[in-house]
Amino acid sequence: MKIFLDTANLEEIRKGVDWGVVDGVTTNPTLIAKERRPFEEQIRQICEIVHGDISAEVVSTEAGQMIDEGRKLSRIHPNVVVKCPLTRDGLKATAALTREGVRVNVTLCFSPAQALLAAKAGAYIVSPFVGRLDDIGHTGMDLVADIVEIYRNYGFRTQVLAASIRSPLHVVEAARAGAHIATMPFAVLDKLFDHPLTDKGLAQFLKDYKKAFQETPVSG
Ligand code: E4P
Repeated sequence: MKIFLDTANLEEIRKGVDWGVVDGVTTNPTLIAKERRPFEEQIRQICEIVHGDISAEVVSTEAGQMIDEGRKLSRIHPNVVVKCPLTRDGLKATAALTREGVRVNVTLCFSPAQALLAAKAGAYIVSPFVGRLDDIGHTGMDLVADIVEIYRNYGFRTQVLAASIRSPLHVVEAARAGAHIATMPFAVLDKLFDHPLTDKGLAQFLKDYKKAFQETPVSG
C-alpha cells in the first residue's frame, strides 16, 4: 500500500519524505487555502519535493470549466493528478480528461455505487472518505473494502485511495481491506512509528551496551 500525505504544507512533506516512507501527496481546496500561498506555485513546489503522484483539485463545478482547469493543472508538472468531485459534471470531466491522457482522482466518494461510476468514467484513483463516514455513524472502512471487492470482480484498474484517515488504526484497516493507497495527515503518519516496546527495547539495548563497552571497557 502506498502512503500519501494529505497536506499542502511543505515542511510536513519534507519531513515525511526524509523519513523515506512517503509515496505521494493529496491536497484539496481547504488544505491549499490553509497555506495562503499561490495555488499553482504551491503544487509545483510539492512536486519538486515528492517524486510521486500529487493530487490537485479543481474548484469549478461545471464540466467544461473543470476540463479547462484540469488541463491547466496537469500542465504544472507531469506528476500532477487532477482531482474532480464525484458529481455528474465531475465524472463527465473525468471521462474527457482521461481520454486526453490526464490522470484523474475522483474525490468525495461516499458509496460503492459512486465508486463503480468513477471506475466506469476511467478514474485513475477513487477516494472514499473514511473519517467523514465514521462521523455520521457509518463504518467508513466498509466502503473501502466494498470498493476493493467490486473493482477486483471486474478487473477495474482504478486505484482505491483511503482518504479522510484520522488514526493509525484507520491506516492498518485500509491496508487489510486492500486499499492501494492511504492518504493521511502528517500527525497520523508520525504516530505510525510509535510503540512503547520499541522505546523500551532500544533504551535497554543502549544501556547494556554502554555498561559493557563504555563504563567498563572490554580488554583484548
Ligand atoms: C482526500 O484526498 C482529502 O483531502 C482528505 O482525505 C479529506 O480528509 P478530511 O475529512 O480529514 O478533511
